[in-house]
Amino acid sequence: MAHRDTAPYASQNHHEVQMLVQSLEAHKGKKSKAGGFSVKKSTFPVAGTNRTVDSWKMNDWDYKKLNLPTYARGLFTYKTLDGKTEIAVRGYDKFFNHGEVRKTEWRNVEKLTRGPYELSVKENGCIIFIAGLDDDTLLVCSKHSTGTRGDVELSHAVAGERWVEKHLATVGKTKADLARKLREMNATLVAELCDDSFEEHVLAYTPEQAGLYVHGLNLNLPEFATYPGHLVDKFADEWGMKKVMYVMEDDIHKVREFLDKVAETGNYNGRDTEGFVIRCQAKETEDAPFVDWFFKYKFEEPYLMYRQWRECTRAIIAGKPPKYKKHSAITKEYLDFARRQFIEQPGLAKQYNLNHGIIKLRDDFLKARGTTGADIIRQEMENGEGDAKDVSRNIVIVPVATIGCGKTTIGLALVKLFGWGHFQNDNVKTKKGRPQVFADTISSLLITNPVVTADRNNHQKRERDQIINDVSRTVPDARFVAMNYVHDRANYDNIRKATRDRVLARGDNHQTIQAGSKGQDEIIEIMEGFMHRFQPVDPQDEHFDLIIDIDPTVESRENLEVVIEQLHNNYPGLFKDQDMPTDADMDAAIDWAMNDYKPDFKIDLSRSGNNRNQPPNQGQSQWPPNGNKKQKQNNQEPFAKKQPKMEYFSVRLNTQRINSILDATFRDQKPEVSRMFRTLQQSRRIQNEFHVTLMHRASAPQNQAYWDKLIHLHDGCMHQTESKGSKSWEPEIGKCHVHLERIVWDDRIMCFVVRLDGSATIHVEAEGGTGTEHIQFETVNPVAHVTVGTANQTIKPKESNDLLQRWLNAGSGPETGIQEVVVKGHVNLEGSCRGVLQRQGY
Ligand code: GTP
Ligand code: MG
Repeated sequence: MAHRDTAPYASQNHHEVQMLVQSLEAHKGKKSKAGGFSVKKSTFPVAGTNRTVDSWKMNDWDYKKLNLPTYARGLFTYKTLDGKTEIAVRGYDKFFNHGEVRKTEWRNVEKLTRGPYELSVKENGCIIFIAGLDDDTLLVCSKHSTGTRGDVELSHAVAGERWVEKHLATVGKTKADLARKLREMNATLVAELCDDSFEEHVLAYTPEQAGLYVHGLNLNLPEFATYPGHLVDKFADEWGMKKVMYVMEDDIHKVREFLDKVAETGNYNGRDTEGFVIRCQAKETEDAPFVDWFFKYKFEEPYLMYRQWRECTRAIIAGKPPKYKKHSAITKEYLDFARRQFIEQPGLAKQYNLNHGIIKLRDDFLKARGTTGADIIRQEMENGEGDAKDVSRNIVIVPVATIGCGKTTIGLALVKLFGWGHFQNDNVKTKKGRPQVFADTISSLLITNPVVTADRNNHQKRERDQIINDVSRTVPDARFVAMNYVHDRANYDNIRKATRDRVLARGDNHQTIQAGSKGQDEIIEIMEGFMHRFQPVDPQDEHFDLIIDIDPTVESRENLEVVIEQLHNNYPGLFKDQDMPTDADMDAAIDWAMNDYKPDFKIDLSRSGNNRNQPPNQGQSQWPPNGNKKQKQNNQEPFAKKQPKMEYFSVRLNTQRINSILDATFRDQKPEVSRMFRTLQQSRRIQNEFHVTLMHRASAPQNQAYWDKLIHLHDGCMHQTESKGSKSWEPEIGKCHVHLERIVWDDRIMCFVVRLDGSATIHVEAEGGTGTEHIQFETVNPVAHVTVGTANQTIKPKESNDLLQRWLNAGSGPETGIQEVVVKGHVNLEGSCRGVLQRQGY
């Protein structure tokens, strides 16, 4: 190994690389489990050429296995112009947390490693690799993608390349120069892309701080060899890129002291950090040679709890409600203590905000209580609230999705692979208290299954809160994992396409959504309803232990792997006695879920309910397939859904139009005018859909005649859509113009004041034949309005009425705390009048 002051160099041995590729090729989607590992190969075109590179990826969990041909996380190979197989890009060897594997146990670290130790803050942007091909093409890629194939990592690689260009321009060099230089060094440049305008991470980067932070230069060899930090810095300087901070230590005991000390606060150099990466050299055994080797030191409990205390303390000083999910009993106790201290010692809060006395307040609390942080964590562990990594049961997977995302497919695949529990809301057979029955079934499945998938769309916060609260009541230490099918509104068209295609192809193979025998319009309308009402998960405000983001538009096979990988990373205890699946196992599980599974029974959604069908049990795949659990749904009456009750009538407006009107109205306002709107935006308290309420069922008794007319109109429209071969439960009953006049708000709620103009004709049957009657759409509220948003979830939209009452009586201004602006340009939108039914949930 080269001396640490000089750059390491070794050229590629093409024969050796050829062997490596062959060995990887042989493990593609490999079936055998014993000692085996599976490899995924993806071929990418190289932009601007007619050449390709191959990416080689192993499952995250396979890196702990012995005797792999390489441990590189991020590996690309290609054929040179003279026909040789060459490594194009080589990432770091996969590295582990201290104590995570045998080699990273401290006593082994002390025994088998040598300095100098380079300690750098664990970056939290996204990793970018940069390397040169033999034709001076510069390859810029993320861990497993070159960004040329329209996949998820696309934007990372593309954004990385843009930054490379920017940096090179500052030193007057070209991409070909860099490509040539890197290939000459036989090295891959490794950098972190930190750019909030592109993707936000935990730490904030200002525009001046944004860019590529170079942290490594790896030789393109199967075994790991990397440059020492000072030479990496030098290279970054020469090529106009940013450098990372690191600390040097020679003595491993000092390394540990340093890390333990930073862990006290989790804060280094004024920034919260996730942990450190330690670069050094290690040998496999006492008499083996030293080779480059990394490990990491992640900040864990009790420090994460201390960090939570600090954030909560800051919140209460600022007069905001503290938000916390973990360590709740002790955190509450700590906060009570802190509040008392702030009252008893004036000035303490101010000091705290200036970062003085944070540790003292915490230590005073622990002293007063007579415990240490470690005691608390131990105690929690004994009560089953332990560290996630020791969890081996009581995990509930909560999909957050819309129809056709693939929830059931993944849920079933997990059943097949691990024998876990899975229950579909569509299989709840009672009519009353469905949410409760669903939650109870999940709770009881947790008795015999370490993990259960609560298969329902859970597309609204209300549903998620319900399942979390109801299951927690019977299983207090249950942990909830969101299987989060990300629904960005900007991506709706792609999601629509993916889910509709799947649902229409599924035909009748579903309990309730039977696209085979129902009109497409109806199915699409139901699907749209879910999309429309979808509320993204708010990690701050919802009690998930873990949120796994997946993409509704990609194959379930891909999503399955992300789900397993994240569960494995966060709850290794779940998989202790299990062989991890190979690619072939996962292929087979998805295949089974998609092709062999049939629902146990079906429900007819039509109102008459006279053609419910229950297929005979024959021809069904066994559920669960591994046969170690009883089939629960036998011999029960299918539940027939009755028509849900009408909740309210409203004029629905186009969400995007309203959002852009809001944006335009507040864009150029003074900060004191736009403040409330920004607050609502930032706290994601703007409504997902906008409407003018005509009448809610609660006011029907006072306005019976109008209510009856609206119902009559609704029923008529429903029959009409039915006779056209489709049936909609929330058909349009008419159109209505909505003139947006002004926006009025206080610090609790914001709404538009509007004027309505629209009518419909009702056909009535009277004794002397049929007649028609005109109905003007109007609201029974004193002022017609559209609620924009409320400051928090305890404030209900109907409070707009109170605001507008006060506004009518006292007007706006500093005395009343009410503000208003006029909506410019006579905005008149056409809205769609509909009856909205009580939600039953699928
Ligand atoms: P609902 O229960 O209706 O809300 O849908 P869901 O989210 O449970 O989706 P499901 O798993 O039933 O998937 C919808 C349809 O798409 C089924 O027919 C699946 O077999 C099929 N499907 C699921 N994943 C994939 C995939 O990756 N590729 C393809 N081609 N079809 C898929
Ligand atoms: Mg389903």
